[in-house]
Parts: sequence; C-alpha cells; structure tokens
Amino acid sequence: MAVWHVRDFAPDDLEAVVRLDSESATSDRPAVFRLSEVVAALQAQHPSVVALADDHLVGAAVGRVDGDRAWVLRIGLHPAWRNLGLGTALLDALAHRLQGAGAKTVAALLPEDETGATALANAGFRSCRGLTYFEKAQPVTAQDSAVLSSLGALVPPSGLWEKLSGMADEKQLIERRLVLPLANPELADQHGVEPPRCVVLFGPPGTGKSTFAMAVASRLGWPFVELFPSRIALEDGLANGLGRRFDEIAQLDHALVFIDEVEEVAGARNLADPVSVGVVNELLKSIVRFRDHDGRLLICATNTVAALDPAFLRHGRFDYVLPVGPPDHEARTALWASYIAKAGAHADTGILAEASDGFTPADIKQAARTVAQTVFERTLDSGERACPTTEDYLRTIRRTRPTVTNEMVMEFADHTIRYGRV
Ligand SMILES: Nc1ncnc2c1ncn2[C@@H]1O[C@H](COP(=O)(O)OP(=O)(O)O)[C@@H](O)[C@H]1O
Ligand SMILES: [Mg+2]
Repeated sequence: MAVWHVRDFAPDDLEAVVRLDSESATSDRPAVFRLSEVVAALQAQHPSVVALADDHLVGAAVGRVDGDRAWVLRIGLHPAWRNLGLGTALLDALAHRLQGAGAKTVAALLPEDETGATALANAGFRSCRGLTYFEKAQPVTAQDSAVLSSLGALVPPSGLWEKLSGMADEKQLIERRLVLPLANPELADQHGVEPPRCVVLFGPPGTGKSTFAMAVASRLGWPFVELFPSRIALEDGLANGLGRRFDEIAQLDHALVFIDEVEEVAGARNLADPVSVGVVNELLKSIVRFRDHDGRLLICATNTVAALDPAFLRHGRFDYVLPVGPPDHEARTALWASYIAKAGAHADTGILAEASDGFTPADIKQAARTVAQTVFERTLDSGERACPTTEDYLRTIRRTRPTVTNEMVMEFADHTIRYGRV
C-alpha cells in the first residue's frame, strides 16, 4: 500500500510544485490554465494541497475560487505515483477546502488524455459532454497597459478594417504587404519574407491615410500609439522627446506607431539649423532601433512626400512607400453605397460616383453628412419620415468643393512614380 501524506500547500513548496508540473503532463496539448496562473493562485493563497512521500513532493492540486465557483487549476502527479488513488485523494482534499472557502461548484478543464481524468471521476466530478472551450488571447498585458497609458495609446475596436469602404486597390496593397506578413509571421518566415517594420503612406489630404493606419492596428489587434510631434516638442523638446517615446515603445510586445504629417519631423534637414538636423537624426536613429524588434510597425503619413529628407526615404529605413490616392469610380461607388445604406436611402450610387469625381473619402463623408442632416430636419418639419433621394445627394455634391485640385492629382501621379515603393 502506497503511503503518502496530504497537507495544505506552503509557500516553500512552490518550486517543487512547478517542477512537478513539467514532469506530470501526459498530453501534448497545452493546459487551459497557464503555469503563470497556477503560480499566481498559489501566491495569492487560494486553497491548494500537496502530497508528500518520504519528504518528497509527489502530487499537488491547485485551486482558485471565483465567487460561487472554484476551479481546479492543476492536478500534478509524479509519474511513479500514477494510478494509485493519489489523484483522487488530492482532489477530495482540495474540494473540501474549496467548499470551505465558499465555492458551491468545483470545476476542472482538462485536455483529452491528460493526467487526472480518472481521478476526477473517482472524486465525484461529472464530465460534461458537448461543451466547447473558446478562448481569445488579449494582445495587451497589464504591464503593457501602464506604458500604453503613459504614451496615450489606445487599443482600437475590432472590425475597423471591414468598415473601410471602397479603396479596393489600396486595401489590397496594404493587406498583402503589411497585414498578412505581420499576422502570419511564421508562414512569412518560411517564405523568407521579412515582415515590414516601417512604412510611409503618402497622398493628398482626406484620402484615408490615418484611417488605414488605425484599421491596420484594429486588424492586427495591436495597440495604436500616435506620436504628435508638436506636442512632444512642447513637452520635452522634439529630439529628446522622440527618443524617449521610442524607448517606451520598445517595452511593448506589440505596437502600431503612427506619425501623421511626418514632414514636420522628417522634412529636409536645414543644415543652417542645428535643431532640424538634430530632430531628423534622432528620428533616423530611432527607426534603426525600432527595426530590431518583431511585432511592431511604424506608419508615417504625409501629404507632401517630396518634402521629406532624402535620407529618410532611403532603402533600409522604410520597407514601403505606399501611395494612397483619391478614390476611383468604383471606390466612390462603394463609399456612397455605405453612406446611403446608413441613411436608409435609395439613391443611384453610380450617378453619385460620377458626379463626385475628384472627391476624397473625406469629401464624400462630409457631403453625406450634410444630406443626412437636411433630411433629418425634413422629417422633423413634416412629421413624416423623409428619405434622401439621388437629387438630394447631387445637389449637395454640386455645392461641395473637392479638397483635391487637378494640380494635386497630377502631382500625386508624378510622386507615385518618383517616390512610390510598393
Ligand atoms: N475607406 C474609407 N471608408 C470610409 N470612410 C473613410 C475611408 N477613408 C477615409 N474615410 C473617412 O474620411 C475622412 C478622412 O480620412 P483620413 O484618414 O483622416 O484621411 P488622411 O489621413 O489621408 O488625411 C475620415 O473621416 C474617415 O473616416
Ligand atoms: Mg490624416
């Protein structure tokens, strides 16, 4: 007859319990509760028991109380002590203590074939068939969150990427070059594809550069850290402040860093002005360091790519220099369709797309908002639900001056050839 002695876990047992955990697994599947959770429960003195034989720790059962319910986080048995009833004895002792701590139900989650299923059955646990365990790993840890709040970062809601309308060409380019390698790093590595670290988006105002950057963060589930050069300049001086922010960002596992209007920091160095030289140099240095880490992406946006310092655009610093231009007919059709659906209207998207040639997504948004407001007021005035018509939209389009002029369109086409790196 095997002889063991079961007692409460004591802090000195921690190391032996962790060692036992690695010896005990009988399944290749990962445990539902990670070792860090097991250790945290032990340190927080949740009820747990250990079994000793000849002064050696040969078994452990770790619990955690969550309100009325308690979890068996781990059952660990030394391999020589399996199938002797030790697991059942540990579970009985643990369940008793968990009940004493207020738990009305005690639950356990095991991978199939893992140590302990028989012991659970013998200790009176009923297996529940037909349940599927779902899990979603949150990309932000608690320790990240202190850094994130000091950087003024935010974790974008999921689904922003899907909400982008039209812009199919840009969307496809950004998805293939940026999102997919970062979202599938192992597959990319097998193909010798290095995930991008730093990219520039350029194009006229209102074409959706900022929106794309945020949507990429949402798609990856990464925190979005926007650096505001003018704010940093006031707080710390630009060169110092940038270096400091990048040091903080280096502590994060994942981050999408966004600098809008980057020409303010990375404009051509004016050699007569030591401040401008210092700032560009600091940014270049930060970029070199930034490139050393996986799981990060720096997106810089600019309306005036030609104003950037040539050193900034040189190979080895930015992986891509991607144009984001005004939407074509198809993209405008899709943009209109999304606003028309939102307004519950029945308007001809093809006609509106034709009439809004030269409009950016921002212009279309503004025109759609004006129509929505007008028709809302019409409903209030008439007491009858009014719906926007194609004519309502056309009238507003005629009154809207597009942000992007013909010269800007031509310049953008020229810059795409000269600076674009896709
Ligand atoms: N693809 C898109 N679908 C829907 N709305 C968009 C899209 N792109 C941009 N917008 C809207 O247009 C406006 C301007 O976009 P923004 O990203 O600020 O442009 P940029 O950064 O290029 O100046 C924002 O209000 C944004 O919500
Ligand atoms: Mg912007």
